[in-house]
Amino acid sequence: MPADFEVSPDISDGINVGLMGLGVVGAGVAAHILSNGSSLLGLTGRTVNLKKVLVRDRFRVRDVELPEGVLTTNAEDILSDPDIDIVVEVMGGTYPAEDYLKQALAAGKHIVTANKEVMAKSGSELMTLARDNNANLLFEASVGGGIPIVGCMMNELAANDIRSIRSIINGTTNYILTKMAQERTGFEQALVEAQGLGYAESDPTNDIEGIDAAYKLTILASLAYRRSFQPSDIYREGISKLEPQDFRYAEELGYAIKSLAIANLDEEAVQLRVYPALVPAEHMLAKVDGVYNAVEVEGSLCGQVLVHGAGAGREPTTSAVVGDIIEAACKIGNHSPALMPRNGPELKVKPIGELRSRYYVRLEVADHPGVLAQIAQLLGDGQISIAAVLQRDTHPETDSAEIVITTHPAREDSMQMALRRMENLSQVKKVSNTLRIEE
Ligand SMILES: NC(=O)c1ccc[n+]([C@@H]2O[C@H](COP(=O)([O-])OP(=O)(O)OC[C@H]3O[C@@H](n4cnc5c(N)ncnc54)[C@H](OP(=O)(O)O)[C@@H]3O)[C@@H](O)[C@H]2O)c1
Repeated sequence: MPADFEVSPDISDGINVGLMGLGVVGAGVAAHILSNGSSLLGLTGRTVNLKKVLVRDRFRVRDVELPEGVLTTNAEDILSDPDIDIVVEVMGGTYPAEDYLKQALAAGKHIVTANKEVMAKSGSELMTLARDNNANLLFEASVGGGIPIVGCMMNELAANDIRSIRSIINGTTNYILTKMAQERTGFEQALVEAQGLGYAESDPTNDIEGIDAAYKLTILASLAYRRSFQPSDIYREGISKLEPQDFRYAEELGYAIKSLAIANLDEEAVQLRVYPALVPAEHMLAKVDGVYNAVEVEGSLCGQVLVHGAGAGREPTTSAVVGDIIEAACKIGNHSPALMPRNGPELKVKPIGELRSRYYVRLEVADHPGVLAQIAQLLGDGQISIAAVLQRDTHPETDSAEIVITTHPAREDSMQMALRRMENLSQVKKVSNTLRIEE
């Protein structure tokens, strides 16, 4: 028998878990602990017991059958129970989740949470509280569902100076963009399909406006650069302006369109941004389709590392949450300090205007000679040189044509100025879309 299994399986010596939330993730975690709690003995040295589960509605029909007396609607049954060692928060939202996490940490309980919003807005405060109370605060499931990236940033990649993170960390937008690319579906129709399949919520704002991805990027950047960033540090654009022809032109130019969450260190400042961008078709991120997520990290020692997998869903997220429970359970007893990002050097967040990027611009113009020369002149005034021009669609009925211009690298503020001037040209009917090109 392996040494691990020689530990007494006495239940009184087990680790007690208080689970807050029994929805998509909570039910997966509860079911896993109930059916595997005693086999976790081999990994943690103790059995893992599900002592209490907090919900809002006691009478809701559940996907998992709990033992008598485990379900509660009173958070104090978890927070004030000295026998509960680990609190697993899978409720979501900031209130009351954040208050419960603070109370649990103040009581010296170890925390496992999947809550990206709380970790993005208050992660630094919670980590300090964890350290002061000699507790662990683990949050693998808060970024990328089943993808092991948070622990990787804290441990396996900790020796590196992180040069950049480029990621697809919102499965809903990636599903919509994949649908638009593969079937040339319009944005609204792709969104409705995503909602029908349960990939998008009835209010999809957080996903399609990049808010959810910005929370996750805040967490990744804070770990990478060991500073506390806030969601407001992240420049953000959503995906609702994209139209089927953007995907057609992108493909013709050799690119895919993906909503990227990017952090990169540029001299003494960090640039943080979430927006749809053109990605070279041969790049691995361009091949991440559907609800899948991927995070590419470039480190000073490891070079480029890419993790790819299911970014949400009951089983993948249960994998991340239970992994954290096992880690916390292993630490109980030897009271190791919480895993904490070190305090890194002061870093400015660079304004988006200072970004240097290539651009894709789709315009509707009057179908007259000389229009392109005017646009080229205006771009030239801003030190922006044209890389390619496509003209495919002409509309004789409206005397207009659609053109697409790609540029060589230019400063964002120069590009924005040129776009504003372009909109004022009488020959330009509409600047339909502008996207950055990530090489
Ligand atoms: N779903 C995913 O694939 C996924 C992936 C990664 C991370 N996450 C994160 O995991 C967390 C949970 O997500 P989920 O999809 O499992 O959510 P969910 O299905 O909406 O479940 C939320 C659960 O929390 C309970 N709850 C909410 N507010 C409560 C309150 N004030 N008091 C007591 N119980 C309360 C609900 O109780 P009732 O059942 O009684 O309403 C429900 O059981 C979120 O932070 C989410 O961002 C989710």
